[in-house]
Amino acid sequence: MGRGLCPQRIPRTFHVKSFGCQMNVYDGERMAELLTAQGMTATAERDGADLVVLNTCHIREKATEKVYSDIGRLRRDDGSVPLIAVAGCVAQAEGEEIMARAPSVKVVVGPQAYHRLPEMVADAAAGKRGTETVMPAEAKFAALPKRRRSGPSAFLTVQEGCDKFCTYCVVPYTRGAEISRPFSDLVEEAKLLVAGGAREITLLGQNVNAWSGQDDKGRAIGLDGLIRTLAAEPDLARIRYTTSHPNDMSEGLIAAHGEIAKLMPFLHLPVQAGNDRVLKAMNRSHTVESYLKIIDRVRAARPDIALSGDFIVGFPGETEAEFQDTLDLVGQVRHAQAFSFKYSPRPGTPAATMPGQIAPEVMDERLKRLQEALVRDATAFNRASVGQRCDVLVERRGRHPGQWLGKSPWLQSVHFTGDVAIGDLVQVDLVEAGPNSLAGRLVD
Ligand code: 5AD
Ligand code: SF4
Repeated sequence: MGRGLCPQRIPRTFHVKSFGCQMNVYDGERMAELLTAQGMTATAERDGADLVVLNTCHIREKATEKVYSDIGRLRRDDGSVPLIAVAGCVAQAEGEEIMARAPSVKVVVGPQAYHRLPEMVADAAAGKRGTETVMPAEAKFAALPKRRRSGPSAFLTVQEGCDKFCTYCVVPYTRGAEISRPFSDLVEEAKLLVAGGAREITLLGQNVNAWSGQDDKGRAIGLDGLIRTLAAEPDLARIRYTTSHPNDMSEGLIAAHGEIAKLMPFLHLPVQAGNDRVLKAMNRSHTVESYLKIIDRVRAARPDIALSGDFIVGFPGETEAEFQDTLDLVGQVRHAQAFSFKYSPRPGTPAATMPGQIAPEVMDERLKRLQEALVRDATAFNRASVGQRCDVLVERRGRHPGQWLGKSPWLQSVHFTGDVAIGDLVQVDLVEAGPNSLAGRLVD
């Protein structure tokens, strides 16, 4: 055998490695299903795989550099390389450059074109490298195989793309314009996921609450209408959705939190910053006041709701006083959990060339202070849950013998021991809290 991949050989095994957001996780699962439908077998480790798909993320930091170092690490001890496909948002943004710089990459496929992965892999095995980064996504979903098996908690992409153009964000360029998948396709996919073992479905979209469609009677509906329909599925126990934009938080969706028992009491609603000048410069098109009003209304509809969010510190021009406003907002809202990031200039976005770029050490220091406040609030939220009895969906085994891990309605990780199985929905008393998880006791 010569070194490297024999050009005529179609891969028999594959490994998909997804980075970044839950939508990428969903896309990674669909790519794996596509390749499986071609007769290929997934491997747990990338080392032994004939084909490795790097499903990349471009949202922050030196994403492209990371892809190149990952590609380098795929070289095996004997000098050979698997067939490498680069998918995801870096593929979309930097496809041609990747092809030019990394000869070992044979396929580059964007997030709206991955239904073409099998034929591109076949072409590559026959010696023909290829790049596909068409948008938008209409053709993709129809070309994917039907879903068969699912874990207890499944993702379902209902909406893709973004028209909001926040000035720091690369998503509108890598994922394209907002599209909503049709109602009937989503109901069908949800039923298949439930038939395949899902007890919980998380509806995904870059702006999931902007989803719109027509129900089976032709009536225009929003995300709340879709949730109401899915809630009628007898074997589906829980529904979640993420990520939402404040401007698309409709009255109907807020009310749904008080009305639909299967809709879990959790809302991820990024605010990004707590100062109106910064929000305007970010092109967020909401204010601190309008955000807080939404939070009040959501809490009125569902008093126990757990709130989550995203924050960016060190946006260009952010002053110390403006950053303090973010800390003040955090102090008012008291999030149950949150993600916080240092601003990262993304090539091609308006903010990348704005004056007043913030020094890294200032960003580090602000992020540290913000995260201290967020950890304080997450810990307080978890501590306040101690003493409650709640349902936990069992997702996997824990690290210790006999231990199980699952999620509370508020998306907290709960560990406990007992005689249960993956996919069970069990009652647990919450007995101890940390910042990231809770200990529970199974109710007999
Ligand atoms: N720099 C830092 N954080 C960013 N996000 C998006 N773009 C950037 C960027 N350029 C964060 C936002 C968004 C989350 C998914 O990632 O907080 O809500
Ligand atoms: Fe990016 Fe803003 Fe769209 Fe979210 S709403 S994906 S942050 S542009």
